Amino acid sequence: MSNDEVYAAGLLNRALDPATQPPEIRAFLQAEIELLDDMIVAGMTVIDVGCGTGRHLAMLRDRLRIGVGVDYEHTYIVEAHRRAGGGRLHFVTGDATSLPIRACFDVATCLTNTWGTMSDKTGVLNEMRRLAPKPQMRLLSVYAEASIPARREWYRRLGHVVVEESAEYLMTEGGFRSEHFSETRLRNLVGDCTIRSVAGIAHVVTF
Ligand SMILES: C[S@@+](CC[C@H](N)C(=O)[O-])C[C@H]1O[C@@H](n2cnc3c(N)ncnc32)[C@H](O)[C@@H]1O
Repeated sequence: MSNDEVYAAGLLNRALDPATQPPEIRAFLQAEIELLDDMIVAGMTVIDVGCGTGRHLAMLRDRLRIGVGVDYEHTYIVEAHRRAGGGRLHFVTGDATSLPIRACFDVATCLTNTWGTMSDKTGVLNEMRRLAPKPQMRLLSVYAEASIPARREWYRRLGHVVVEESAEYLMTEGGFRSEHFSETRLRNLVGDCTIRSVAGIAHVVTF
């Protein structure tokens, strides 16, 4: 299976159940939420790339002027819309390398190592730059190498035993491929950016 097939089989819903998450992963997810809470202020417009079932936009709903979430897995978009769609939040099915949107936003996010599961990384960054043109207002959160033991355990609990590990990725028996990044690799891929360590197992990158 490839990542899109794994997502289509509903991996995200199980992964977001805290009961499946090792403590390091739970701490990372909480740190992301706190970071968004600090960064996103009232009246902002935000696009979330690879939004899944829309939990981050749903959390910010009351302070956003407009929030748009895009994901290529249509069932996640239907669920996001059911949970939080309407009013200021819109959820759209589409690919991150060719986002079906013309408007510009204050902030573009791609969270929870979503970028680390995407094959055309430069294509996604280019779309984020197009849709959020101001530097430092594009936010990625990705795993660092230190995340490997916690991710191995998390994926095992989800029935995706890791069968291959390299300096850049973990690959599971079920065909799920998830990357991790050194600061050097991030700078090579993203170019000019600010990198902060989060929860000891991840990086937050603004560019
Ligand atoms: C790790 S999940 C995170 C979902 C969501 N951001 C969250 O934190 O709950 C990654 C998401 O990215 C989506 N995705 C992966 N590759 C994509 C692509 N090329 N275009 C659009 N969505 C993609 C998947 O369907 C999945 O919902």
